[in-house]
Amino acid sequence: MYSEKVMDHFNNPRNVGELENPSGVGTVGNAKCGDIMRMYLDIDDTGVIQDVKFKTFGCGAAVATSSMATELVKGKTIQEALEVTNKTVMEALDGLPPVKVHCSLLAEEAIHAALWDYAERNQITIEGLKKPVEDIEELEHSET
Ligand code: FES
Repeated sequence: MYSEKVMDHFNNPRNVGELENPSGVGTVGNAKCGDIMRMYLDIDDTGVIQDVKFKTFGCGAAVATSSMATELVKGKTIQEALEVTNKTVMEALDGLPPVKVHCSLLAEEAIHAALWDYAERNQITIEGLKKPVEDIEELEHSET
């Protein structure tokens, strides 16, 4: 039911933890299942994501997608990181069962929330970044 890559990232999640002096932190939850995701980004002066960590109170699919998402945004520029959507993450993991697709939104939104926090701290605007939601349920409803 789960791909080998999903199982690998679930059993050995990459980049778990927190950063001491993050450039931005974002927390997003899903009220329906009660899961929560927090992302920490370390962004250097040139706008490159040097480090990323995550913590979650989430299901296995949320752990695996967040782990993969951190791998995909690490070393990328902010603009490149914005292109990492939950679809990109799911493809990189060889797919998720349909009922678990919403879990992958937590990682995407938490990265956006951390970027939003970074932009606010530095009083800049990141082109293409929309104000993140605190609860991804809002997102699911707005998409339907
Ligand atoms: Fe809540 Fe997966 S069931 S994020």
